[in-house]
Amino acid sequence: MNAEPMIQAALPRASRYDRAWAEANSLGENVLYFAESLCNVLPLSPGMRVIDLGCGHAISSIFLAREFGVTVWAVDRAIDPTANLARIEAMGCADSVFPLRADVRALPLPHGYFDAAVSLDSFLYFGTDERFLPFFARHLKPGGYIGVVDACLSREIESAAELPVEARAVWEQDWWGVHTIDWWRRLWQRTGLVNVLCAEVLPESDLIKQSYDDQYREDPAEAGFIALMEAEKGQLVSSYRLVGQRTDRPIFLEDADTDYAY
Ligand SMILES: C[S@@+](CC[C@H](N)C(=O)[O-])C[C@H]1O[C@@H](n2cnc3c(N)ncnc32)[C@H](O)[C@@H]1O
Repeated sequence: MNAEPMIQAALPRASRYDRAWAEANSLGENVLYFAESLCNVLPLSPGMRVIDLGCGHAISSIFLAREFGVTVWAVDRAIDPTANLARIEAMGCADSVFPLRADVRALPLPHGYFDAAVSLDSFLYFGTDERFLPFFARHLKPGGYIGVVDACLSREIESAAELPVEARAVWEQDWWGVHTIDWWRRLWQRTGLVNVLCAEVLPESDLIKQSYDDQYREDPAEAGFIALMEAEKGQLVSSYRLVGQRTDRPIFLEDADTDYAY
């Protein structure tokens, strides 16, 4: 099945961008699909300050700036910001997207500054730490949003033995850190620092999975990942979207760095 015609109908903004460019600059599935799907439930409006956590090659940041008129801080700890700047300039966004090489767990940015944060296919790398949301939420304005799109499981997996043989090595490598949507909802909700407005499988999840599958089916390096995606009739692995809105509860973190007091 060719998923692209259905993706074009479901995600028209992302589909207008050159697909080869989007795929070449995504560090996983086409990140523009994730960005558009998230923005269907995270209200962005012109002039907002947005931070893109783990932006990779910053094409999601470019997409948000161009499509929604927001200003974006594109932050990644591993990607050269000069290379990101070249992509940003080539897409006419030099005044609206600012590339920054930084660890999102130690942001050199003010508190109470952002109207919204997005993290696309990146949150798993830092967001499972229970203290990350409290740490990061200080950078949001009251009422600001945080939105994530990432991989999720339909049930918690306790050991690779629960999986088909061909999918076990991938799970043992780092999929042990992938969780259910309910796990994420509880992680955020119990802090009281955000109200969870949305926690659900992406409506386009199967289409995006199919598109990735079509792209990499013949690639031996992806065989384990494809096997995991196809496990349990394709129901085990999906992409989810999670949106929280900052409450007015004060943030308490007893960390040594008093600069972090809010
Ligand atoms: C799978 S890639 C996704 C990148 C991009 N969002 C995309 O979809 O193309 C995950 C990204 O998160 C970044 N990352 C991981 N941990 C980070 C951290 N603590 N601070 C900043 N970036 C981080 C990595 O460098 C990598 O570029």
